[in-house]
Amino acid sequence: MSTNVNTLQNENCGNNLLKGKRGIIFGALNEKSIAWKVAEKAVAEGASITLSNAPIALRMGEINRLSEKLNAPVVPADATSVEDLTQVFEQSQQLLGGKIDFVLHSIGMSPNVRKGRKYDDLSYEFFEKTLDISAVSFHKMLQVARKLDAIAEGGSIVALTYVAAQRAFTGYNDMADAKALLESITRNFGLLYGPEKGVRINTVSQSPTVTTAGSGVGGFDLFYDVADKMSPLGNASADDCANYCVTLFSDYTKMVTMQNLYHDGGFSTTGMSLAAMEQYEKSRLK
Ligand SMILES: NC(=O)c1ccc[n+]([C@@H]2O[C@H](COP(=O)([O-])OP(=O)(O)OC[C@H]3O[C@@H](n4cnc5c(N)ncnc54)[C@H](O)[C@@H]3O)[C@@H](O)[C@H]2O)c1
Repeated sequence: MSTNVNTLQNENCGNNLLKGKRGIIFGALNEKSIAWKVAEKAVAEGASITLSNAPIALRMGEINRLSEKLNAPVVPADATSVEDLTQVFEQSQQLLGGKIDFVLHSIGMSPNVRKGRKYDDLSYEFFEKTLDISAVSFHKMLQVARKLDAIAEGGSIVALTYVAAQRAFTGYNDMADAKALLESITRNFGLLYGPEKGVRINTVSQSPTVTTAGSGVGGFDLFYDVADKMSPLGNASADDCANYCVTLFSDYTKMVTMQNLYHDGGFSTTGMSLAAMEQYEKSRLK
C-alpha cells in the first residue's frame, strides 16, 4: 500500500468499514464528482479500488491525480460498450486480486440537455443515447459482471439517481426517463442476483449537487436553491453522499436490496417548508 493511501486512511479517521474489500468506481471526472468523493471515502475505509471512466473523460487528465493519490489503477471504458465493461471487470479482478465486493455506477449524460433540446422537441437519436449512457449501461454492467461471476458473495452495487424518476421536475428533461429506467433495472436485476449470491443492488437518490453533470441542468442555480429551502436538512453534499454509499457497500446493510434510497435532506417527503414559504413571501412583497 502506498504512503498516500496510508495517509488518507489516517487523515480521514476511517472506521475500516470496507477493510479488505475490493471495489470498482465508475464516473469520477473531477474533484466535484460524487464518484470522486466515494472513491476517496472507500479507500479511507480500507478498500482497494479501480477507477473507470470514458476515454474522453480520461483525456481531461484529472482522474490520474485521483488514481495516484489512492493507488487505484484506471481501466477506461465507455459504459455503453459491453466489450469495454468486460475489460473493466476482468482487469479489476486481476489488479485487485479477487472478486469484486462493491461497484458504484455514477454515470449520467443527456445530449438533449447539452444541446438545449426541450422535452417536447427531443432528438430521438439523442434520447436513445441518454437512455444508453445513463440507464442501459447499468444493465450492461450487471449482466457482464454476472456472466463473468465477478461479484463476490454478498456484494453491493449502487447507482446514483434523482427524484425526477418519481415526480416531474421542470428542466430535468429526458434524464427523468433515464432515471426511471435505471431504478427499474435495479429492482429487476436485484430480484435475480439476490437469491443466487446475496448480491444487493440499490439506487441512491441524491439532492441537487454542484458537479459537471448537475450544473448542466437548465437553471441549475435556482433549482439547487429551491431544493435547499424545501429540504428540512438542506441539500445533501457530495461528501455526505459518499458516506452514505460507503455504508451501503459495508456489511452493515447486507439485507437492503432493490431499494431507491433517498439521500436528499428530506426533500422527497416534504410538501411545503417554512423556509420556502418565507422566500416566496419576500419576493411577493418586492
Ligand atoms: N449532480 C447532481 O445534482 C445529481 C443529483 C442526483 C443524481 N446525480 C447523478 O449522479 C451521477 C454522477 O454525476 P455527478 O453529479 O457526479 O457529475 P459528473 O459530471 O462528475 O459525473 C458524470 C460522469 O458520467 C461519466 N460519463 C458520461 N458518459 C459516459 C460514458 N459513455 N461512459 C462512461 N462514463 C460516462 C462522465 O465522464 C462523468 O465522470 C449521475 O448519475 C447523476 O445523474 C447527480
